[in-house]
Amino acid sequence: MTGAGTAVVAGGTGGIGEGIVKTLLGQGWTVFVPVLGMEKGERLLSYVGDQGNRLRVMPADLSLREEVAGFRKLVMQATPKLDLVVVSVGSSYYGHSLHKIDEAEWARLLEENLATHFHLQHEFLGYFHDVNQGAYVTLAGPEADFVHPETGLMSVFAAAQKMMARVEALEAAGSGVRVYSITSKTPIATRARGEQSSPSWITPFDLGDYILALVRDQVAGCRDSLHVLDTREQLRRLLGAAR
Ligand SMILES: NC(=O)c1ccc[n+]([C@@H]2O[C@H](COP(=O)([O-])OP(=O)(O)OC[C@H]3O[C@@H](n4cnc5c(N)ncnc54)[C@H](OP(=O)(O)O)[C@@H]3O)[C@@H](O)[C@H]2O)c1
Repeated sequence: MTGAGTAVVAGGTGGIGEGIVKTLLGQGWTVFVPVLGMEKGERLLSYVGDQGNRLRVMPADLSLREEVAGFRKLVMQATPKLDLVVVSVGSSYYGHSLHKIDEAEWARLLEENLATHFHLQHEFLGYFHDVNQGAYVTLAGPEADFVHPETGLMSVFAAAQKMMARVEALEAAGSGVRVYSITSKTPIATRARGEQSSPSWITPFDLGDYILALVRDQVAGCRDSLHVLDTREQLRRLLGAAR
């Protein structure tokens, strides 16, 4: 597609999501963001400043199927067409060996990191298949492919999210629906990480630019589903080569 469209950014109040929201708004897109609490929505509106007139925040707990269905219904009442869904949803859990994680923590993390993704793809990929168009993007950190002690559960969920995207991409082959999984090999230089970030780290704005280049067919391999970004320099080079 060319020009601006309409997007949902799930996790748009998070460190990565807020930068993607800002990038899309800056390019003229209309953006819908589900929020767990309206105070998070207010914080996002204040972060995007003047561009907030094309941002709509709506309460929804994405771990609950009926709330995701309700959110999709509200979005589709507010816009005639949806072009892009970005899923930047999850939670972190570090410092515990896998065999020591208790059942309640497991259940909570499963809801936050996989049930959310399952419900979102059910509702929004379902819609994209119905209309035979749209791009569905999920993001993964390096832990999707690498294992470290005491952070293993994050690898389990990231690898599962990535596999979910691979299956969805295969099932969308030959249709007008595109499914992407973008893996960043660097941590993401979010606002929260501030000065702890390195200049070689990919920023949320870079991810937003890359997603836009994919949906606009402006980057090599834009029909492939799996994208791996090594460093910020490489990502900017890919985007530069596409211009
Ligand atoms: N950080 C990295 O280096 C990196 C790199 C690549 C990919 N990723 C992946 O990208 C995702 C986002 O990372 P991040 O650093 O932006 O994390 P983050 O700041 O914790 O953001 C997570 C987002 O998910 C939302 N969320 C979680 N559970 C939800 C629920 N039940 N209903 C609605 N929203 C929910 C959070 O909402 P609230 O704001 O209300 O809590 C927040 O907006 C993660 O899944 C992570 O695995 C991370």
